[in-house]
Amino acid sequence: MYTHGHHESVLRSHRWRTAENSAAYLLPYLSPGMSLLDVGSGPGTITADLAERLSTGTVTALEATADALALTEAEIGRRGLSNVGYVVGDVHALDLPDATYDVVHAHQVLQHLPDPVRALTEMRRVCRPGGVVAARDGDYAGFTWYPRLPELDEWMALYQKVHRGNGGDPDAGRRLLSWALAAGFTDVTPSATVWLFATPEDRAFWGGMWADRVVASDFGRQAVESGRATAGDLARISRAWHAWADAPDGWLAVLNGEIICRA
Ligand SMILES: C[S@@+](CC[C@H](N)C(=O)[O-])C[C@H]1O[C@@H](n2cnc3c(N)ncnc32)[C@H](O)[C@@H]1O
Repeated sequence: MYTHGHHESVLRSHRWRTAENSAAYLLPYLSPGMSLLDVGSGPGTITADLAERLSTGTVTALEATADALALTEAEIGRRGLSNVGYVVGDVHALDLPDATYDVVHAHQVLQHLPDPVRALTEMRRVCRPGGVVAARDGDYAGFTWYPRLPELDEWMALYQKVHRGNGGDPDAGRRLLSWALAAGFTDVTPSATVWLFATPEDRAFWGGMWADRVVASDFGRQAVESGRATAGDLARISRAWHAWADAPDGWLAVLNGEIICRA
């Protein structure tokens, strides 16, 4: 099960994402005219940026459901781009031909999958020999923050349980290299970057978003339904995210792992 769902509070965080702040490690490998498959394109802001960069090239957006794909399509429409195609499918078993794309990309997707090695094997199959398979995932246990509010430790412990309970790995960032090697890649370039939220605007965005997410998104619902938290716990954690956002010295660094794999 996808831990976050597509509630507005989730989309708010995903829509903040750009190719520059979320796929900088991939940009040097892109040039106009290339074909790219964007696995788990979601709200589509990164997809749209990549399509702009490829100009005469093409992007195929792949999502697990028609509803999720409609979010991508709406963003591409809003940006007036005409070089994007759409496919509903499961990255574990792609209904796409071998050796098709110059680049196969997945941002914050592998962490949610029951079998990320199989997904990378499929991404490699549909990538042309010599092309690039690129993935970036957060590493929740590697997040650091200040002030050290106890409710944020509680949030992390709860998040880890819910995400793992859904068959994913919230600490996927540190596993990307091992998964790529297990999928048979021999030429892998690893890197890591952080998103930093430490200005009043960035804290208001991240803290406000998580304050809403814990009480209103699929994550909060699953936490209560699985008996891991009460509505009262979630309300307390939500208030702590507001308190963190309001702290003038508040800091949150979100660690992300990245891999560039030669197919
Ligand atoms: C955290 S979102 C990332 C969205 C987008 N890449 C971004 O960074 O803004 C993960 C996306 O992966 C999709 N997804 C989950 N499991 C999938 C699967 N088995 N095959 C394809 N997409 C999947 C979800 O529907 C969700 O939209």
